[in-house]
Amino acid sequence: YVIGVDLGTSAVKILLVNQNGEVCKEVSKSYSLISEKSGYSEQNPEDWIEKTTLGLVELVEEFDGDVNNIEGISFSGQMHGLVLVDQDKQVLRNAILWNDTRTTKQCEEIYEVVGKQRLLEITKNPALEGFTLPKILWVKEHEPEIFARSSVFMLPKDYLRYRMTGNIHMDYSDAAGTLLLNVAKRGWSHEILNLFDLSPEFCPPLVESHMFVGNITAEFAQTTGLSETIKVFAGGADNACGAIGSGILSEGKTLCSIGTSGVVLSYEERNDLDFEGKVHYFNHGEENAYYTMGVTLAAGYSLSWFKETFAKLDAFEQLLEDIDEVPVGSNGLLFTPYIVGERTPHADSNIRGSFIGIDAAHERKHFVRAVLEGITFSLNESIEIFRNSGKTIDSIVSIGGGAKNETWLQMQADIFNAKIERLTSEQGPGMGAAILAAYGCDWFTSLKECADVFIQTSKTYHPIPKNVETYKNIFTIYQQVYTQTKMLND
Ligand code: XUL
Repeated sequence: YVIGVDLGTSAVKILLVNQNGEVCKEVSKSYSLISEKSGYSEQNPEDWIEKTTLGLVELVEEFDGDVNNIEGISFSGQMHGLVLVDQDKQVLRNAILWNDTRTTKQCEEIYEVVGKQRLLEITKNPALEGFTLPKILWVKEHEPEIFARSSVFMLPKDYLRYRMTGNIHMDYSDAAGTLLLNVAKRGWSHEILNLFDLSPEFCPPLVESHMFVGNITAEFAQTTGLSETIKVFAGGADNACGAIGSGILSEGKTLCSIGTSGVVLSYEERNDLDFEGKVHYFNHGEENAYYTMGVTLAAGYSLSWFKETFAKLDAFEQLLEDIDEVPVGSNGLLFTPYIVGERTPHADSNIRGSFIGIDAAHERKHFVRAVLEGITFSLNESIEIFRNSGKTIDSIVSIGGGAKNETWLQMQADIFNAKIERLTSEQGPGMGAAILAAYGCDWFTSLKECADVFIQTSKTYHPIPKNVETYKNIFTIYQQVYTQTKMLND
């Protein structure tokens, strides 16, 4: 057996997985966000340790086999969060999380000091409030005495791993979201560190996600009931682990994950493509591989907003039950899902959404279908960016809420003009962590070989040429709505 720990933003989810990739036990423990001011989002790292420990205790207690057969453990973690510790490795303040937006000024400072072009060359990414370097600069400016005492920074799952093993490391996939990593050269950027007067010792040693980084301490073994012989593997960023857990492990493989927000993520062998910062470009959890990622902020959120505002229904199934009666294109009704702003491709937090083409004959089902189409068009903008870079995208794995409805899956095939694959069982980033542990334990000769055993496709949806043509025409109009409505919210 191996354990995959997914240290998320709202909860830690722990999976016990056997050699066939079957999930034998799943435990989840939630913790809260601390928001002292609008835009602030923090967590107490001690809560992660406490809840993960509780979860592991429960998992071990209910495990009816020999704990010595749980051979390995690895991690997936919420990205970008800043954990600062002093010389004695004591946490100095709450962790500042990825969804904390207090750092707009620090992002501007990064552009001024490094230069936007140079930042893109080194880190492959723009300066966004969520990333780690702006958070470090914020602490330096606003809490200088805390900053002066900090000896090293960690990301959330690195701190958890440190508490379990006593060793500090950071893997490339998570380090890629700090804006301190030279993503292509796979090393800390001394140029950026120097520009902000940060010492190289402030950054943990870098490792591969599948690398063995130690055993658990005797104390942690005692508390949880896990065997002291269990091997600990570094793990990766939640998006990288989500990719591994969905089998996105070779060129041409792409993932569409629709939750509250929606993500389109594509495997990249190369590290020298130029997307001008329009999509995130990070190191994968697989050695020497990368992924690009576009984000639609309100994907599932657009649908739940519509349901709560206009439909007053409990279940999404009810809301979607008659969308098949509406033709492709929703009889001229078009929706843009910018209800909380948009990340890819516009990176515009001010833009707002729209319904256009409303006809007195439209019923609720037309609006529902139009919402689904609008979300999918938005995700298609990210796919267009990938395709414009010369990539072939002909097959996409769909997970999350978008994979729960057959009509939506067919719509994805038609709008993306690609085959859509649905998985038999979806475990997300936790499964990616388990796969890293299984590979680390030498059960398989590669992550891909492991994923081929652990992950199966249950159904494939093929694009229907007539629908592809109709959607292509509507997508051209969709793309113009942004420019035409931008001044409404400027
Ligand atoms: C990625 C990002 C989020 C977090 C969520 O850039 O900010 O997906 O990783 O945990």
